[in-house]
Amino acid sequence: MITLPIRLRLAAWYFAVLAVVLSAFGFSAYVEMRHSIHRTIDEELQIRADGVRQLIERTMQRQDVDDLRQDLREHTELRAGGALLQVSDEQGNWIYRSKVMSDYGVPRPAKVPRRAFDYQAKDMPLRVWSQQVAAGGHIYLVQTTAEMDDYYAALQHVALLLIISIPLLLACAAAGGYWISSRALAPVDQIAQTARTISAQNLSRRLVVPNTRDELQRLSETLNGMLERLESAFRRITQFTADASHELRTPVAVMRTRTELSLRKARSADEYRETIRQVHDDLEQTSDLIEQLMYLARTDCGAEILQFAPTDVAEVLREACQQGSALAEAKQIEFRSQIPEQPIGIFGDSSSLRRLFLILIDNAVKYTAANGRVDASLREGEGFAVVEVRDTGIGIAESDLPNVFERFYRADKARSRESGGVGLGLSIGRWIAEAHSGMIEVESTLGVGSVFRVRLPLANGEGLSKKIAPVIAAVDPVA
Ligand SMILES: Nc1ncnc2c1ncn2[C@@H]1O[C@H](COP(=O)(O)OP(=O)(O)O)[C@@H](O)[C@H]1O
Ligand SMILES: [Mg+2]
Repeated sequence: MITLPIRLRLAAWYFAVLAVVLSAFGFSAYVEMRHSIHRTIDEELQIRADGVRQLIERTMQRQDVDDLRQDLREHTELRAGGALLQVSDEQGNWIYRSKVMSDYGVPRPAKVPRRAFDYQAKDMPLRVWSQQVAAGGHIYLVQTTAEMDDYYAALQHVALLLIISIPLLLACAAAGGYWISSRALAPVDQIAQTARTISAQNLSRRLVVPNTRDELQRLSETLNGMLERLESAFRRITQFTADASHELRTPVAVMRTRTELSLRKARSADEYRETIRQVHDDLEQTSDLIEQLMYLARTDCGAEILQFAPTDVAEVLREACQQGSALAEAKQIEFRSQIPEQPIGIFGDSSSLRRLFLILIDNAVKYTAANGRVDASLREGEGFAVVEVRDTGIGIAESDLPNVFERFYRADKARSRESGGVGLGLSIGRWIAEAHSGMIEVESTLGVGSVFRVRLPLANGEGLSKKIAPVIAAVDPVA
């Protein structure tokens, strides 16, 4: 099927609908007019026949057919249209037949029709009304007639007018329809033209919004909204790529300097060993960073498939605390955990949850000075499992609080880098919490310490059943 442009299709539809409507109108107007002419003429004929009936009844009281003839003749001469009359008896003999009627040769029907009928005389269309009259023991057939030539001529004139004017009207309407739809759709072309020029290089361009308060205005606004979101997503990704390469460049540059220095002249085995150890540390950090970047990239493209299953948070947190206490011990920080003995069931992915808890404990240890304290705890409340990691560390300034969950955000770049962080931990943590339909929040006072709190909906809690199903579908494309 060939597809025509919308404006042409609209105009064509308009034309077709209008053609049907106008033709129907023309046809019914014609039919109705003809019908109403017949109705009026028939009534008139009937009245005339009725007059003749009364005359026959009156005259036949005297039982004289010749009188009747005479009376009928007089009657016809007196009245308008009276000449168009013929009366016959039951044997078919003419009692009276005007000259015009015999010239026209209007027939006498064998059976009296209930309605008037059309009769075409030589060159005159006629309308004939027939009526039986019983008088003086006889039955007479009275027929009155009307000449229809003038009426039919008028009717034909009207038909001609319709036949000429309807196509003319249609042509005008179609042209008008095409013009209107072209005008209405012109902004669409403009939108398409602008849209064609928008690419990754100029995502900040926007479509012109026609001030028409109609679908087209809404369409442009919607498309602009979409561009807005695409642009911000695109900017985030470019920023992420830029940040990631920047973060990767630093350790690589450091390793290069170290090895170059070491290779500049002959060194002792101990010196080489020291260089290799330093490079090894750098490599460890770098591979951590790469691992984090890859995790985030997988979450971004929806490929990070969480294995949701009934999980005991208490057990997962206990494992994380074991690793955490080793970290704390190395920094001479007191580490305590308060985890209930009985299992606390949630629906989740245990390895991601462990990762989340470790991120929080790792931060708490990292940003707390020696002799400080880190507390990890778990409790149930309001349908949620609530995990808290509290420290007596450096705290976070109020101005930094809203940003700590952003990628690559570090409140204190120098200190964080020194301790091996690039600012990705908390953004990964937040993604994990949210993928579990949970949430993560922070309270902190600069110089006093911080509390990071994660709430995860309990498996039997109300929070879960409502929330987890769509999340699993969203997070796990395989499910
Ligand atoms: N427990 C904490 N105490 C103080 N500051 C913290 C704590 N946890 C996180 N932060 C701040 O939030 C920033 C982001 O944390 P994170 O995403 O884990 O990055 P990283 O630890 O790699 O620097 C950190 O750089 C730090 O400034
Ligand atoms: Mg961290």
